Amino acid sequence: MTMLKKVLLWAVGGVVAVAGGLLGWVLLTWDRVHDDVPIPALEASGDPAVIERGRYLVRGPSHCSVCHMNNLAEVMRSEAGEELPLRGGLEFPIDPLAVFYTANLTPDPDTGIGRYTDGQLFRMLRHNVKPDGRASLAPLMPFANMADDDLVAIVSYLRTGEPVRTEVPAARWTLMGKAISALVRPAAFQPVLGHSPPALAPPQEATVERGGYLANSVANCVGCHSPIDLATGDMTGPAFSGNGLGEPSMIDPNVMLRMPNLTPDPGGVLARFPSEDVWIRRFRAGRVVQASIMPWGPYSNMSDEDLRAIYRYLNSLDPVANDVGPTVERISR
Ligand code: HEC
Ligand code: HEC
Repeated sequence: MTMLKKVLLWAVGGVVAVAGGLLGWVLLTWDRVHDDVPIPALEASGDPAVIERGRYLVRGPSHCSVCHMNNLAEVMRSEAGEELPLRGGLEFPIDPLAVFYTANLTPDPDTGIGRYTDGQLFRMLRHNVKPDGRASLAPLMPFANMADDDLVAIVSYLRTGEPVRTEVPAARWTLMGKAISALVRPAAFQPVLGHSPPALAPPQEATVERGGYLANSVANCVGCHSPIDLATGDMTGPAFSGNGLGEPSMIDPNVMLRMPNLTPDPGGVLARFPSEDVWIRRFRAGRVVQASIMPWGPYSNMSDEDLRAIYRYLNSLDPVANDVGPTVERISR
């Protein structure tokens, strides 16, 4: 064997060994259990006022009620205002990383949250750590800065639901998803730590402060209406300035959606809402664009004060000129 051949063989062998080691590392570490993440010191309550506040959040601004359905037909019925049980099972593809299935949030003891302690549910919502100790994809449920009293209200309300038995498949991650999770370790795939959510939500009044809390920490307007790198969850430009990347609608894949600019720039969508009354009327009308992924149904259940608060908050932002292009575009494929 020539020296060259020997060197080449060594090199190839080395690459294979490194790749094999990497694969092993990926498979061992991509779904680490995060039992070190603390359980928030909160307790669910049986107080009817607390439960009613939870119902408002779940079926209103924080819109758990549209994702935690079983199928698209149920999503659309929930969107239209039917109070269906949150039995989960909806397939939620995040190409090319994973396919998720929304969890059964009814109190069923075998397939639902009857299996979990209040603490496990609080930890999921605040730290992105599922009851089984694994991290989820943080941007799916960005409730880390939700106030203690709102988290308590949500879990208290979920405990009062009618138990419905629905088996939900576990998430399936692709090898690429696992590799990115293990090697790149983007924040979006990790527990969310080191933030400081308030103990009490700002009172339900039409203030800029309340609007900012809702738009950023409860209703996730910020998650869709900002330039965000979907793979990492990192913000790549000013918050609320829209997102022109474009993605096919989950409801109708022949429709391309871009997220309008919600800052008070004359080229943004706020220019079409010259007064709070026009704004409220738009939200009360609910879904207009059938293919829209915006949860218009739950938002249409928001109080006048909360809708006014969001309007005032968005109008208090610095205007950012960002033309995202057509927000609803029919594409042929
Ligand atoms: C954008 C869609 C979406 C919204 C909105 C949403 N969820 Fe989820 N939820 C999911 C998906 C998808 C999963 C599965 C994640 C996974 O497998 O990592 C999930 C998982 C969970 C889990 C973990 C349960 C388990 O068995 O592991 C809990 C608890 C939960 N959601 C509660 C809520 C609550 C409460 C709300 C509202 C405050 C909410 N979710 C809003 C999509 C959503
Ligand atoms: C899941 C993604 C998503 C979330 C969350 C979301 N939006 Fe949207 N939004 C969209 C898309 C897509 C459109 C364009 C299609 C449409 O008009 O429904 C849109 C359109 C709009 C419009 C223009 C409506 C019109 O009639 O022209 C306004 C105003 C708006 N969003 C405000 C908000 C506010 C305020 C929130 C939070 C309370 C929010 N959005 C949350 C995706 C989202």
